[in-house]
Amino acid sequence: MSEGKAGVSVKVVLIGNSGVGKSSFMNRYVNHRFTNMYRATIGTDFLSKTVNLDGATVTLQLWDTAGTERFQSLGTPLYRGAHCCMLVFDVTSKASFSALELWRKEFLFQAEPQDPADFPFIVIGNKSDLGDREVSCRTAKQWCEEIGADFFEGSAKEDVGVEKPFLKAAQSGLQQCRPPVLISGEKKRSDDNTRRLESSTMIIQTWLLMMQICLEQKRKEKMMSSVIEDKCFICFHTDFSSHLI
Ligand code: GTP
Ligand code: MG
Repeated sequence: MSEGKAGVSVKVVLIGNSGVGKSSFMNRYVNHRFTNMYRATIGTDFLSKTVNLDGATVTLQLWDTAGTERFQSLGTPLYRGAHCCMLVFDVTSKASFSALELWRKEFLFQAEPQDPADFPFIVIGNKSDLGDREVSCRTAKQWCEEIGADFFEGSAKEDVGVEKPFLKAAQSGLQQCRPPVLISGEKKRSDDNTRRLESSTMIIQTWLLMMQICLEQKRKEKMMSSVIEDKCFICFHTDFSSHLI
């Protein structure tokens, strides 16, 4: 891999039905933590992790979305600019697997990638530790072949098969990024500035989204300020430091 790819940011969006384990999978990967307690994601959460691919540094920007319908309207700004999409289902829920077709279509509709036929999707069958499986590995693989997606199975709870799909997302997402040209002097500085600007724009977008989410929560559910503060806490403490100018 060329030096030019060093420091590239890859945006990855996790989608799928509520409760399939998107947040758990992401938290297991980034924070090495898991809890049996279910706390539905409100709007979206954001984590980043730096990985090394063939000597190049890739910053994975992971956007964990809410599976509940009331936040679907946030899709457009969230999905735009994604380099890879992770479709997550629960192997003990046939419904969550069947829903992936819709999630995929909705993603392509809202994200409007330049080349939809070539856009990388990664399908994850989570909760493989549970015995009451409803979706076989074969069925999932077959569908993934049809749509040209990569398939992985694992368990956030038991920390099985969690890292591989994210590394694949980094690889596939990297190919979606503009090919880097050259590398020294003015052009490099200009590329760096562009990248910083893009990251800053993303931070501002995240902020606006968080505010939108808070307002929506407050209006629709008349939620107590503690939840709002909690959300703002997550926003404040998201690791944006590496993206700041
Ligand atoms: P939304 O935020 O509502 O969209 O849900 P989500 O997809 O983020 O699901 P979440 O990660 O919150 O997990 C839902 C529930 O499933 C929680 O109680 C988790 O503890 C549980 N869970 C997640 N991953 C696993 C797993 O690999 N195995 C088992 N047994 N339970 C899991
Ligand atoms: Mg969640």
